[in-house]
Amino acid sequence: MPWWFRGERKMGRITVLDQNMVNMIAAGEVIERPASVVKELVENSIDAGATKITVAVEEGGRKLISVTDNGIGMDAEDLACAFEPHTTSKIKTSDDLKGISTLGFRGEALASIASVAQIKAISRPKDQLAGNCLEIDCGTKSPITPCSADTGTIIQVRELFYKLPARRKFLKSANTEITHIIEQFIRIALANTTIELVLKHNNKDVYRIGANQGLLARISELFGADIADSLIETKSDEKDLNIIAYMGKPSIAATSNRLQYIFINSRFIRDKFISHAIKEAYRGAIDPSRFPAVFLFIKMPYEDYDVNVHPTKIEVRFFNANLVHSQILACLREKLLATDLDTMVKAPLDYETRMPSNTSQGMPRGQIAEAMEDFFRRHRPGNQQHMDFAARDPGLVTRNFVNEQPVSSIERRFMQIHDSFIIAENDDGFVIIDQHALHERIMYEQLKKRVRNSHLESQKLLVPESLQLSKDQLDTLENNSELFEKLGIEIVGFGPKTIAIQSFPVLLAKAEPAEFLKDVLGLIAEKGATLDSENLFDEVLHMAACKAAIKAGNKLTDGEIQQLLADKETVEGSGHCPHGRPTTIKFTLSELEKQFKRT
Ligand SMILES: Nc1ncnc2c1ncn2[C@@H]1O[C@H](COP(=O)(O)OP(=O)(O)O)[C@@H](O)[C@H]1O
Ligand SMILES: [Mg+2]
Repeated sequence: MPWWFRGERKMGRITVLDQNMVNMIAAGEVIERPASVVKELVENSIDAGATKITVAVEEGGRKLISVTDNGIGMDAEDLACAFEPHTTSKIKTSDDLKGISTLGFRGEALASIASVAQIKAISRPKDQLAGNCLEIDCGTKSPITPCSADTGTIIQVRELFYKLPARRKFLKSANTEITHIIEQFIRIALANTTIELVLKHNNKDVYRIGANQGLLARISELFGADIADSLIETKSDEKDLNIIAYMGKPSIAATSNRLQYIFINSRFIRDKFISHAIKEAYRGAIDPSRFPAVFLFIKMPYEDYDVNVHPTKIEVRFFNANLVHSQILACLREKLLATDLDTMVKAPLDYETRMPSNTSQGMPRGQIAEAMEDFFRRHRPGNQQHMDFAARDPGLVTRNFVNEQPVSSIERRFMQIHDSFIIAENDDGFVIIDQHALHERIMYEQLKKRVRNSHLESQKLLVPESLQLSKDQLDTLENNSELFEKLGIEIVGFGPKTIAIQSFPVLLAKAEPAEFLKDVLGLIAEKGATLDSENLFDEVLHMAACKAAIKAGNKLTDGEIQQLLADKETVEGSGHCPHGRPTTIKFTLSELEKQFKRT
């Protein structure tokens, strides 16, 4: 007997559920929490052509959610119909499903909401002098009554889930619920810049957003100027795919995808192909465990994807997902490569607090500031009136200055400080370079370039290096023989648990072969299960670049510094190390002058 069968078998076990039960079950899918009600109601207002929408909630929406719009409204007949299940004005035949241009079409949101809360709906179409009012209490309708009303629609939803204690119990605190509502509101506000939008919580304004702002202005209003100022705009319009993207610089990448917003024809979606394209575009520019901030607005023919795959329509199915992936990747990647991602230091400059902390590895921030001040003093000897530090001798190494006339941008004056940082003059100021981070980036790009088509060039070790490996390590080695071949590491068996490295890549000459091999094996053991072979190899290259790069503390010759500066000009993404930390911080003369109170 199946577990669900109770009692004796008899005919007539199956019954048709009454309509309110059906609605309540549908509500389970569509209405998870107050934020889902906000989403459905506001989407209806947008579909109704509203140009102003006000959302007012109380106690995180648990007590009241009210949405007021100035859209086309409903007459008495439509109002009576709208809360019935499977009623919609948006599609009529199955053909309409092939190109849905409205946010709604399933005709179940209002019926679902009305089955689990107290509703009051007032609506008036433009061509009528009065409105109509309808009240519903968990599926039980009162008669429609005429009332005075502005044109448009107000829908109030009170005491969500009040007759379903099990569902109500799952609602979180008002604070948590309002956070979810704000998130829905933000998505709607980003997708509909022509609409004026207001969000109130417990009678206080949370957002009041004017219509027809540009996208960037909306982003700034919703996320703050710091985020908006760090965005790079890019566009493309090819193959029926119009893309506008605002890409965050690596410095604002987050630990989750909370700053990734993807819209298809003004509908917020989540999509694994697009997320992957974004990740690929930023590969090498940020740490692989972080998520870049990206606001991506895509317009494409409605017929080229299906929205009828998920009850809340947060997922779509692209008919040509590869095309969508490659267009987005190309658009974002091209822009990133063409952008100077050097970290800019803004005035007013407070050295101790504003300096990005990642750049101060191995050296207190105050020392960087001191070195910088010293550099500036030496180059502007006539202008010391504000420099109270001029008498101090920071004991800097100055022999690295090359004082010839600058010929090209790289033959400028430069110096190494504390054997860790390079200060180099440029056209409008100077830069401080983290020598390890920059060299790591250069190594990574060179390694990547060389392995793209073949394997790394290797050279025979004079004395093969033998080492003992555990059974697991040997297995890993055997299972990844192709990876080691590509790296240019040649290995031969030497005994049951001993192997010998015979050849090692020339580019990794700075690394210690046995130690490097063990580290690669460790990395594969740690990440091999979760990464595909391409990403795993990329991680290995990151590690190789780090090991082969000049370290902080290495004294460099003038020639080496010149080489670094020359490579910086030619290597892709040289503003950041492969983990996304800045390699370079810029200081412009005008900002310094402000800081030294010369202007
Ligand atoms: N704010 C509104 N203004 C005008 N008409 C509305 C509004 N909200 C809902 N409606 C009407 O009620 C119908 C049912 O809404 P809903 O249950 O959300 O289904 P759907 O949006 O999928 O059509 C809509 O198709 C629309 O005709
Ligand atoms: Mg709807």
